Amino acid sequence: MSDNNIQIFDTTLRDGEQVPGCKLNTEQKVIIAKQLDILGVDVIEAGFPVSSPGDFKSVQAISKIVKNATVCGLTRAVENDIKVAAEALQYATKPRIHTGIGTSDSHIIHKFKSNRETIIERAFAAVKYAKSFVEDVEFYAEDAGRTENEYLARVCEAAIRAGATVLNIPDTTGYCLPSEYGAKIKYLKENVKGIDKAILSCHCHNDLGLATANSIEGVINGARQIECTINGIGERAGNTALEEVVMVLKQHPYLNLDTKINTSMLYGMSQLVSDSMGIYTQPNKAIVGANAFAHSSGIHQDGVIKNRETYEIINPKDVGVTESAIVLTARSGRAALAYRAKNVGYELTKLQLDDVYANFLSFADRKKEINDGDIHQIIETSNVYRQIISA
Ligand code: KIV
Ligand code: ZN
Repeated sequence: MSDNNIQIFDTTLRDGEQVPGCKLNTEQKVIIAKQLDILGVDVIEAGFPVSSPGDFKSVQAISKIVKNATVCGLTRAVENDIKVAAEALQYATKPRIHTGIGTSDSHIIHKFKSNRETIIERAFAAVKYAKSFVEDVEFYAEDAGRTENEYLARVCEAAIRAGATVLNIPDTTGYCLPSEYGAKIKYLKENVKGIDKAILSCHCHNDLGLATANSIEGVINGARQIECTINGIGERAGNTALEEVVMVLKQHPYLNLDTKINTSMLYGMSQLVSDSMGIYTQPNKAIVGANAFAHSSGIHQDGVIKNRETYEIINPKDVGVTESAIVLTARSGRAALAYRAKNVGYELTKLQLDDVYANFLSFADRKKEINDGDIHQIIETSNVYRQIISA
């Protein structure tokens, strides 16, 4: 793996599936996993095998069908979780166990009623035990975002000594600022003994809307894996959105950080996940929302019709969207109306357009959005209709 390759770890089927109201059966999970594999993700976190027989079955089924990606199962730092995960992953070509424990004082004191030294011992023991089943073990320091850096470095060192190949630094509560999260990754890169034996991974939640920014700061500062979900779905406000981080890296080539994702599949992937989970994607969602490539104000439409790049930084085809949409509303101008009229078969002169436009405005004030059928009606009821059809 080249040093500027960013591994994409997809957790749609684990952290993503923790969304209230979303439940996928094994068949649906297998379909999504197959598509994720074709999309080019490096790791598929298929579930939390000990959590239910259904999840165990899904992780096992996914392990059998995934051809290229590593298949990963989540565990707590508990021997039985790890044993069950190893069993669920036994058919995977590339299995990974993802084990870990909370490391912030809040988790140590309130959740575990423990102390820092005992947590380090538990982290070490969990990784060591997982290593007895698989070579590839990822360790997560839950709530690393609110864990003091010096202590976090000691936890990471213990995980590396026990054989961890990946160190996941989750901002579990979505609290960090991008500068803070980036500095945390930099600190670990510079201060953890043996850090060259493992890669650092970003796992950011979106409680303050900063998950994508934090993940990008993480990789700029030395992390080499991003954990993310399709459409950014996940606990509470969700996880880092896969389509966002992938497109940030693609659209900023000078960062010199690449992924293996086939970006032309992003829109289809988003639809598949949203349809299977029954969770609708907000229209203004970056990259995959219904309005991500739709232009509705007259000024923008005029620009886009002249040259798409005036108001678009991404070619919609690059993410699997057929074309930009020129949406006709009462805010649209003559350029947009002429463009849409041409698409349905009318080539209007400047004078004809003036007349049709007046008719259009009175229509558009009554109706939110004008569709192709409306355009025919607007033209047919305009004063210049006879002139248009006789031309
Ligand atoms: O957000 C988090 O801390 C997690 C871990 C279990 C990896 O999802
Ligand atoms: Zn998470």
